[in-house]
Amino acid sequence: MRFLGQLKGVNPFQGDIVPSRVKLLRAGQPCFPIPHPGNYREPLRILDTYFWNLDAEVGSAKHNRFISIPGLPYVLVTREPSVIKAILSDSGDKPGQFDRDTSPAEGIARATGEDSLLYANRALWRRQKKVAASPFTRSALFQPEQFREFENTFRVTVSERLERFRQLQLERGEKVTRLEIEPEVQVVMLEMLVTNFFGGQVEYSDLRERFVPAIVRLIDYMVSDTVVPRSRNILRYYGKRGEALKRDKETLFELTEIALSGRKDGLGLWRKFQSDAPNEMLRSNVRVFLAGALEATTSFATWALSHLAGAPEVQEEIFQEVKDLECYTPENLEQARVLNAVLEETLRLTPSLYFLPRRSIEDRWIETDDGRRMLIPEGTHVVLDVWHANRCEEFWGVDVSGYPAEQFAPRRWEHLSAQGKRLKETLHFGFGYGPRVCPGKFLGLLEVGLVVGAFVKLFKFRAVHSEIKARAGVSTKPADGVLVDLELR
Ligand code: HEM
Repeated sequence: MRFLGQLKGVNPFQGDIVPSRVKLLRAGQPCFPIPHPGNYREPLRILDTYFWNLDAEVGSAKHNRFISIPGLPYVLVTREPSVIKAILSDSGDKPGQFDRDTSPAEGIARATGEDSLLYANRALWRRQKKVAASPFTRSALFQPEQFREFENTFRVTVSERLERFRQLQLERGEKVTRLEIEPEVQVVMLEMLVTNFFGGQVEYSDLRERFVPAIVRLIDYMVSDTVVPRSRNILRYYGKRGEALKRDKETLFELTEIALSGRKDGLGLWRKFQSDAPNEMLRSNVRVFLAGALEATTSFATWALSHLAGAPEVQEEIFQEVKDLECYTPENLEQARVLNAVLEETLRLTPSLYFLPRRSIEDRWIETDDGRRMLIPEGTHVVLDVWHANRCEEFWGVDVSGYPAEQFAPRRWEHLSAQGKRLKETLHFGFGYGPRVCPGKFLGLLEVGLVVGAFVKLFKFRAVHSEIKARAGVSTKPADGVLVDLELR
């Protein structure tokens, strides 16, 4: 039946929100709208194609698009925030709710395990969530005693590492040093996670020379392994790259054991971990936390620094907020209004995870807050395109938020709050939303807030290039690695 409908070009979606069909081939389109070995390195361009040249469409057909290929499941791509919110709220393990679509994460699962909180669905997901999410809660991280100790080691770590930059500059005798910040940020982020969060013992030089490069190569491989899975076997069994890949995987597994080793003595946040689940049940999660968190926190921090590198006046405002801060208590962090607005705006304009994948397991009606409905057919791959939602003038532009949607404008958040808009009305989905929201949200905000605050306190920095493009794999990053001219304050 469906096959016939697809052949005839029937639109299978029903209700008030009706998506429009994407033709696979259109002259001049940014690229072919489905990932394949020739275009998968440019996922943002693939998504651009869905929302390219929409002059003929009106209303929700402009923001909701679908692909239909006879014999294959439908693909729905939406950039409408109220639809994204409705689908995220309806994701989980209750009967009929949306699953996380596992197909874009197959490479990740092959490298880290299929039973992680990120990859699992239904009962296994629920079990993993119960087991693994407790140390990440706001209340666990922000309990006064716990927080003081945690923040202290964080702060020492961050400032010691930033001191490296300072030394470098003094050694070179330069007033201004040209530097790519991303590689430095990666090591700091992994160190905070392994040593401060998990209480693991690992040398900084080991992280820098061995663990970070191995995980970065592995993440790159996960992306290609998802789109070109056969390469996995070819690489595994033939050639030097296969051997190198095996070693990288072993290196991630070694770091996983280091992270787990603090558990028996209750080191780091393990003491918040009230569960007798065997280590075996946690390994996939720890691997996902290490690889995923490194990727996401690096993305978030590098974007924040990249935006600030192009906005010296905002750097100055943050400097005024943090220059006298000795300690980042929860209250201090809350009062650093400009820093918080910068973090919020960074995730809005350049979300680390640029799309959230879902799959309908049955024909499912969803309903938006304003009462509009859409029927999504069973088996549809649903791509919640957060990147384009947050850059759409209709939802985030001058009329709504006081500033153009594509501009980095931390003041937008003041404008929205002055209009009495509540957070729920201005969702950018930077950490997702609903039952599958990111459990690392508070940890991530804390880490990135500390790194950005400490960086601004020590340095003034300016972007070398005036326009910074995005590159994307598992997450998005500034394409220039945050190349800046750095000057000590
Ligand atoms: C600070 C940067 C981070 C960002 C921007 C970020 C973003 C996100 C987003 C958008 C999701 C939702 C995905 C979806 O709905 O499909 C998510 C889920 C997840 N994040 Fe994060 N994350 C960050 C840090 C972390 C950290 C530090 C950890 C762990 C240590 C973590 C672990 C996870 C896990 C396990 C999930 C899956 C949760 C589930 O499905 O129940 N994230 N993250």
